Amino acid sequence: MTSTVIVGGFFGDEGKGKIISYLANKDNPKIIVRGGAGPNAGHTIRDGDKIYKVRMLPSGFLNKNAKLMIGPGVVINPQILLKEIQDFGASGRSFIDKHCGIIEESHLIRDSNGELKEKIGSTGSGTGPANADRAMIVLKLAKDIDSLASLIVDVPAEINSALSANQNVLIEGTQGTFLSLWHGTYPFVTSKDVTASGICADIGLGPKKVDEVIVVFKSYVTRVGTGPLAKEITPKEAESKGWSEFGTVTGRQRRAADFDFDLARRAIMLNSATQISITKLDVIFPDCAGMTFYEELSEDAKSFIKNIENKLNTPVTIIGTGPAVHEIIDRRK
Ligand code: IMP
Ligand code: MG
Repeated sequence: MTSTVIVGGFFGDEGKGKIISYLANKDNPKIIVRGGAGPNAGHTIRDGDKIYKVRMLPSGFLNKNAKLMIGPGVVINPQILLKEIQDFGASGRSFIDKHCGIIEESHLIRDSNGELKEKIGSTGSGTGPANADRAMIVLKLAKDIDSLASLIVDVPAEINSALSANQNVLIEGTQGTFLSLWHGTYPFVTSKDVTASGICADIGLGPKKVDEVIVVFKSYVTRVGTGPLAKEITPKEAESKGWSEFGTVTGRQRRAADFDFDLARRAIMLNSATQISITKLDVIFPDCAGMTFYEELSEDAKSFIKNIENKLNTPVTIIGTGPAVHEIIDRRK
């Protein structure tokens, strides 16, 4: 059995969606399961000339042989979920737990008007207010919603029995380490713990059943919304470096900074990372675009990677060299 947990090492938007969709095809997991907060997350996946923006389903949906699941710790917007199942051709293989929380209209309203929006720049997806209601034990759960009945399975039981039967399970986190409610830059954080431990709790996987933890770092740091960002550069500078990005969910321009070793070191510690994935290497080193072999990389790009391995004492195993799913260097054994 191999259980592999993928989490973000900075502030989300590290490019986890693309890494997950690569692993979903390559490792042929039986189940791809999503933990994390809710539809505040947005992953962009490019497959040929198709671009998918996914907010609820696991990003591994391109592998049609895998079951897609959402763990009980996640809050769901039923409309977004049902639409994605349709749009991404995932019906018959998409499942949720009966204890997934439900976002209702009132949560959207509370998230878009008030404090959360203005003070911390929340995504307005209703995720925070829904999690607050869950803590107050007034939130509806998936088992209370008729339109979701056919999707419900016992997600923790499914995952644990797949692992006992020696099958691969791919576990997908959302957001990033420093948006964690416990470990992030409070109060500029999301409404959950989104480190590897939190993601595993969301899906019902105990700590002794985790084999690999891959922390994903982008080659530079971005952050949407407010909150501290060390050594932030101006939007103009970001544009000149090709680091200008816009949020998948909110469309807001992302703030940017250089790769941050202090944050990265802490992310490795908090997540007990066994491997590192570096994304968007081609943005820093355009001559690496589309490469699939480490040996082909320029000396500068190789020393960028080696420096990360040395400083963080963890192997860099998966390197993104372009937006498409196959533009990847895989150095795993
Ligand atoms: P909320 O989770 O919508 O309440 O937003 C809290 C903070 O986390 C805001 O700064 C958001 O922009 C940020 N955030 C939430 N989800 C994501 C994500 O998936 N990627 C990047 N930032 C996020
Ligand atoms: Mg995103």
